[in-house]
Order: sequence, then structure tokens, then C-alpha cells
Amino acid sequence: MKEKILSLLINNKNDFISGQKISNDLDVSRAAIWKYINRIKEDGYEIESVTKKGYRLISSPDILTYSEINKYLKTEYIGKKIIHFNTIDSTNRKAKELAAIGEDEGTVIISEEQTKGRGRLGRDWISPKYKGIWMSLILRPDINPIHASKLTIIGAAAVVMALHELGRDSYIKWPNDIILNDKKVCGILTEMNAELDKINYIILGIGINVNIDEEDFPEQLRDIATSLKNEFGMLVDRKNLIAKILNNFEFLYEDFIKDGSIKKSIEISNNNSILIGKEIKIISGKDTTVAKALSIDEDGALIVEYLDGTISKIISGEVSVRGLRGYI
Ligand code: BTN
Repeated sequence: MKEKILSLLINNKNDFISGQKISNDLDVSRAAIWKYINRIKEDGYEIESVTKKGYRLISSPDILTYSEINKYLKTEYIGKKIIHFNTIDSTNRKAKELAAIGEDEGTVIISEEQTKGRGRLGRDWISPKYKGIWMSLILRPDINPIHASKLTIIGAAAVVMALHELGRDSYIKWPNDIILNDKKVCGILTEMNAELDKINYIILGIGINVNIDEEDFPEQLRDIATSLKNEFGMLVDRKNLIAKILNNFEFLYEDFIKDGSIKKSIEISNNNSILIGKEIKIISGKDTTVAKALSIDEDGALIVEYLDGTISKIISGEVSVRGLRGYI
């Protein structure tokens, strides 16, 4: 009921809505409305209440709830249910727990902060409160598990497209990092639960350093990590950005579900790649090989040419890739 009342207020922002109308529309008593309004205020909403006129929403807090994101969403099912936390250990961990007990495809878990955010290769992911986008999508594609890594390619393409819609160019460091000015601004952690030939669920975890200040990063990360705020020199609206990512994600994902192709995402990855055309180091365990990155093929694999002229296909997840100079 609280969400329904809040939706009415948001949809009538700047106008008064009478207690009588809320009561009629939602079949709830005036006393109960008063109680819910107080709870909504406790969440950080500023609401004016005037006798005989009713209630009017004046301002909303910067929180990533469904009520706040929905107004920007154009999707059919991705993000149509958002489970929001103020704090959690890891949204990927929670998403897995919920997917295992049957949570639907498209549900998104978002937290304002993560106390044990997880990155690839067992690394930690710093996730300070209200300063980033820490979210995990639950997906249940009916595909062979060998194609699961394509979801990372789609996710990265969706983030790049969303930033492009904000008028900003960003680059993909294949397969799962988004780069601005040679520093990492976003990482994607795709995790899967599958049987031999059937996926039970995939969790696509996206972490974006949105409004993080430089001093929030531990010293050892300052040369390799950045935030949108640092690079753009202004605060970025997290709600709008999340909705843009989910809108783009559904569009690209639908393509994949319908005909198994990730052509559009590959095109975005190739056009916005930070690696293509460059000499890179391919790190596999203790071995490092130098090669030139040629392209990303239709399966989402990185095609490279070794110094002896041999062409090879690298599957994501098998190796880690670095530029010859520094992180990129
Ligand atoms: C990486 O680049 O190493 C991947 C980082 C992924 C971080 C996100 S934040 C939301 C989701 N929950 C997690 O614990 N990790 C992912």
C-alpha cells in the first residue's frame, strides 16, 4: 500500500491529491493514509499536507527504489520488479539466493551500499553508500550454458549505450570492464547456475562508480579506477542511468533470446573497444603472451594475432587481458 500511495504522489508531482481521492482509488481509510504518508516521509520524501487540499510531493530522496526508477523505464519485464536494500553484503549473492527459490526473470536487486561487494577473480568491489549503482539482474535464458558469457557482452554494450544517451563516450575493455580516460568506471560479474545443457539462472551483476569521490577509492586503486562524477565533473543522476541501462539491456537481450544473435551488442563492442588494434598481454595463470587484438567475433570471443602471425580466438573467462602499458 505504501508503494501505491507513493506512486500516486509521484505521478501527480507538484499537484495536491486529496485524501478522499487516495482513499477511493486505493480503497484505504483516511487514517491509514496518514500512517503511510508518515512512513513515506521517513524514507526521505518531502510531502506537504494541507487541510482540504490533501497531499503534495515536493521532493524525492536520491534512492534507487522501483517507485523512483519506474518513471524512466520503458521495458516489458527487465526491472519491472526491483528489490531494494539500504545495505547488503552483495547484490549478486542475494540475487542467487532469490533465483534459487524461483524469483522471476527480469527482477533486479539493487542496494545503496554493499559491505562485501564481489568482483571477478575473487576480488573485492568497493561499493560506498548512495554513490554508485550496485545491481544484479536475474536472467533465465533458454540457451546452452556455453553461450552464457554472451550475457556479459550484452551487459557491457547496454552500459555503453546508456552513457552514450547521456552524451558521453565510454570504452569496453573486453569482456567486462567499462573505461573512461584509461580508468575503470564499471565492472560486470556474470555468474551462472546450470546443468550440463540447461541454465537454471544467470546473475548479471553490474557495478558502476557513479558519484564516488577520489578519496573514497583505496590508494592502490586511484591510478586504475575512476567515477562518472570524477570524469564528467558533475553529479550524475543514478535513477535515470539505471533505467537507461535496463532499457538498453532488454532491447539487446531480446535480440539474443529471439534468434540467438548478439550482432548489435558485438557491433557496439567493436565500435567502442579500448583493445582493438592494440598490442595486449594475455595472462593465463603464470603465462603472459603478447598479441594484437583484432576484433570481437560473432560469439563474443576476442580474436588476436600473436607475434608469429598465428590468429587465435580467446573465450572470455579463460584469461585476463591487459594493455602493454598499465591497466589498459
Ligand atoms: C569486476 O570488474 O571485477 C566485476 C565487478 C562487479 C561488481 C558488481 S556490484 C553489483 C554486483 N554485486 C556484487 O557483489 N558484484 C557485482
